[in-house]
Amino acid sequence: MQIVHERPGDAALIDALLDTAFGPGRTTKTVYKLREGVPHDPSLAFVALEDGQLRGSIRYWPLLLGEARVPSIMLGPLAVDPAYKGQGYGKALMRHSLAHAASLGHRSVILVGDPEYYNPFGFTREKALGLQLPGPVEERRFLGLELVPGALDGVTGMIHPALPAAPQIRRGVRRYAA
Ligand SMILES: CC(C)(COP(=O)(O)OP(=O)(O)OC[C@H]1O[C@@H](n2cnc3c(N)ncnc32)[C@H](O)[C@@H]1OP(=O)(O)O)[C@@H](O)C(=O)NCCC(=O)NCCS
Repeated sequence: MQIVHERPGDAALIDALLDTAFGPGRTTKTVYKLREGVPHDPSLAFVALEDGQLRGSIRYWPLLLGEARVPSIMLGPLAVDPAYKGQGYGKALMRHSLAHAASLGHRSVILVGDPEYYNPFGFTREKALGLQLPGPVEERRFLGLELVPGALDGVTGMIHPALPAAPQIRRGVRRYAA
């Protein structure tokens, strides 16, 4: 198995994989409100390959936490080809991407997912208790992880999408030679 950065040619296969794993209605979920108009972070997008074939994918989105707009990232979607479930692809994508996120200086990670799967990686409900998502989710599945101890201490309020900065419109008086 190889874990490599997602390549431009992987996008169509990943879309199909996500439709299979989560159903075509996946984009109506609350977490997609935090992804609308925001590209995923390419430095944290990885695919798992076996003999060059795509077996799984993980992506992360940038976020801003609470009124203090503390930068963070949202893990997901994570999906493995159903024909290859239970062979360690998911865990390998998790470990690799979280280690990479920490090495890039990210301080915390938020996700909505099954605690039974994510608790062993250190995600807990407790770390996200002070935070709110912009729509309904099953409370027990809303989890947080500190990559730097204390990074989520006192961080409370609504989670916002990290929208790209609007292009600057240069206003000024243009002078023409007479
Ligand atoms: C969840 C998913 C990414 C796991 O990937 P995977 O490659 O099959 O998992 P791994 O081989 O790394 O790990 C398998 C272990 O995870 C457990 N597991 C898998 N899905 C689980 C879930 N939803 N809840 C709890 N445990 C789960 C398995 O029981 C197994 O446990 P074991 O190691 O004690 O035997 C994959 O099954 C998938 O794509 N599911 C559909 C999409 C999804 O639910 N994504 C995550 C949702 S937020």
